[in-house]
Amino acid sequence: MRYGHFDDDQREYVIDRPDTPLPWINYLGTDAYFGIISNTAGGYSFYRDAKLRRLTRYRYNNAPLDVGGRYVYVRDDETGDYWSPSWQPTPERELTGYECRHGLSYTKIASSRGGIRAETLYFAPLGETLEVWRVRVTNDRDTAAALSLFSSVEFCLWDAQDDATNFQRNYSIGQVEVADGVIYHKTEYRERRDHFAYFACSEELAGFDTSRDAFLGAYRGYDRPAAVENGVAGDSIAHGWQPIGSHHVRLALAPGETREVNFVLGYAENPKDAKFDPPGSQTLNKTGVRPVIERWLRPETVEQGFAGLRAYWDDLLEKIQVRTPDGDTDRMVNVWNAYQCLVTFNMSRSASLYESGIGRGMGFRDSNQDLLGFVHMVPERARQRILDIAATQKETGGAYHQYQPLTKRGNNDIGEGFNDDPLWLVLGVGAYLKETGDTAILDQPVPFDNAPGSEVPLVEHLRRSLRYTLDRLGPHGLPLIGRADWNDCLNLNCFSDTPGEPFQTTENAHGGVAESVFIGGLFVLAAKEMAGIAALHGGDGEKYRVAAEKMAGTVAEHGWDGAWFRRAYDFHGNVIGSGENDEGQIFIEPQGICVLGGVGLDDGLAVKALDSVAERLATPHGIVLQQPAYSGYRIELGEISSYPPGYKENAGIFCHTNPWIMIAEAMTGNGDRAFDYYRRLNPSAREAISEVHRCEPYVYAQMIAGKDAPTHGEAKNSWLSGTAAWNFVAITQWILGIRPEFTGLRVDPVLPEGWTGFEATRRFRGTTYQIRVVGAGRVTHLEIDGARVEGNVIPLAEPGAVVRVTAFA
Ligand code: BGC
Repeated sequence: MRYGHFDDDQREYVIDRPDTPLPWINYLGTDAYFGIISNTAGGYSFYRDAKLRRLTRYRYNNAPLDVGGRYVYVRDDETGDYWSPSWQPTPERELTGYECRHGLSYTKIASSRGGIRAETLYFAPLGETLEVWRVRVTNDRDTAAALSLFSSVEFCLWDAQDDATNFQRNYSIGQVEVADGVIYHKTEYRERRDHFAYFACSEELAGFDTSRDAFLGAYRGYDRPAAVENGVAGDSIAHGWQPIGSHHVRLALAPGETREVNFVLGYAENPKDAKFDPPGSQTLNKTGVRPVIERWLRPETVEQGFAGLRAYWDDLLEKIQVRTPDGDTDRMVNVWNAYQCLVTFNMSRSASLYESGIGRGMGFRDSNQDLLGFVHMVPERARQRILDIAATQKETGGAYHQYQPLTKRGNNDIGEGFNDDPLWLVLGVGAYLKETGDTAILDQPVPFDNAPGSEVPLVEHLRRSLRYTLDRLGPHGLPLIGRADWNDCLNLNCFSDTPGEPFQTTENAHGGVAESVFIGGLFVLAAKEMAGIAALHGGDGEKYRVAAEKMAGTVAEHGWDGAWFRRAYDFHGNVIGSGENDEGQIFIEPQGICVLGGVGLDDGLAVKALDSVAERLATPHGIVLQQPAYSGYRIELGEISSYPPGYKENAGIFCHTNPWIMIAEAMTGNGDRAFDYYRRLNPSAREAISEVHRCEPYVYAQMIAGKDAPTHGEAKNSWLSGTAAWNFVAITQWILGIRPEFTGLRVDPVLPEGWTGFEATRRFRGTTYQIRVVGAGRVTHLEIDGARVEGNVIPLAEPGAVVRVTAFA
């Protein structure tokens, strides 16, 4: 069952009924000012850091799930009837023609009631720290209409964690100011935190409210605000409690008339050198923001700003466009998967319907993997991201697991000890170099742990990443896992010093001897990448190739179980992910990553491992993480076994891992299987089963419930997942085979049966390549602007050139 459809020309997903199985969200903002917005206008906004600079309040896990957002109310002043055109928060009021269009960094929600149509466009213009709500109200009646329009946001007292917990303080600190019709939220301004929010309206106001109690009325919710019901705002000024922003505007519309009313919600700071006169005064920088507000309330500016945003996305997406025999592939590659990748660049794992914006900083491994999916769109920003991440690395080569986006400092709450973390930096840098050829980055001085004076060239950080693994090998010569590897929940050093007393501390987790076959495979992959990087840097990659071979040998010796790769050895030396185990016999991760590292490609082990995946792990909804699921909690395995069977790491379809198998299948030449797995996860291909999948059909989710779960096929945790980047890599670089390499662009498709080619446009290092693949097999030669070239690598062309390439397969 569908709840909407794709409008491919507009690059929009159109939701045509508001009661989607879950809130289907979208993101506003492209740089510093961001927001999430659902199909019923729920969500919140923040400046840079969803934890510390939250502009508007959102109550997670609410009932209904998604109430609280950017609401507009329309009131018929003749009858007193009122409603919200976004359905929430007035779902009892029946609407006609509801439509939500989620586009690239904007959302439009429209509906009608009683012959009055209202459409709100929400977006955050490029280069500004604000969002615009463009409301268009049309009188479709044949009589005049006297209407009221109310806006509403509930301000968050900036620190979202405190805001949701520290009420003994919060109820006394809220402060607002209203001047010239602009509502300023200035809580905490006294402490010279120097930031404030403003909320403005393009029309003359009939009134306003800034106190939630005054606006809603005691014991009332957003479904029936007293001010709206009575058609009169209270001009209230909040003192503590819950500051809100609401404007009241009266509109008299002739039959057929449309009026545009704009609202601007923004974030501002005083200039750093602002003088306080008298000292301690709370003079807001109103004169500074006033021109910005005035500009963005003007319809022409809004029009231009919106056009600018559309052009920005068109330009980014042009980097890769494909035309294949499969519409779901085209739609995801050309628009939605790329879009999701850039959202993960902006958000990491911070703010979504599932990530509260307060819980997690930027992940070291996560951000490096996200980079694989967006580096081609925003290479300069990817460069900065790499330098930021590397600057959190420690001298040992170890990494903080996360860092805070605002301070860019390593996050001590979680510390280090996820022993795979450092290796992902090598892969991130490798991807950047392949895309850009910018070898100068390798010489860029980068500190350790942000300590001034500790700078070394970036390439030294990479060396230390590899060293970190080699310095920590276990009894079988495999890498020590530490607290966990990619699989955060596989905590194999969960031993207890006192028998019968389970506990895990950071210290003993570090000291534990549990080993990871996965990190072994990842090391092989990263060391080979490093060999290529070293060669680019004028050095000799040989020692990394030797280290890779050695580790590959250890993986084959101690990590092979007969028909698949083992997963790990626990603290006691017991094997995990083996036929010897009663549960958790086979795990997906090492089958993918070892093959990506090239282990088993020459001797048939890879094909065997992939056959085992097909036989034991694949389901119609994707490939589960392991089998059989753990039926009970096991202290020696940790969190993984805390999940009920079929969910998350305990045999859920952890979507991030599936593309590794797609790539591995492509590497062994099995295009059919690779593409079949690709389609099982492709959200657009799952659109028709939205009532089962339940999450948005335009983006990947982190997890789909596995076959052991009662809700098999149900997705959760959409948007912020490495699934986005890896699926993008799998389809574009391995199945369609258009793959940046250190020396040029390779065209090496491994296509499913029945395809006889496809077309693609790829902008690479300043050149536009128009690629046509002809045939169903492996590429034997190319024709580049009419000249025959053997093999499948397109030699680098002049930047600015448009090059026609035909690949004969
Ligand atoms: C984390 C990843 C981790 C994955 C598997 C995600 O929630 O962000 O870093 O690799 O879970 O445990």
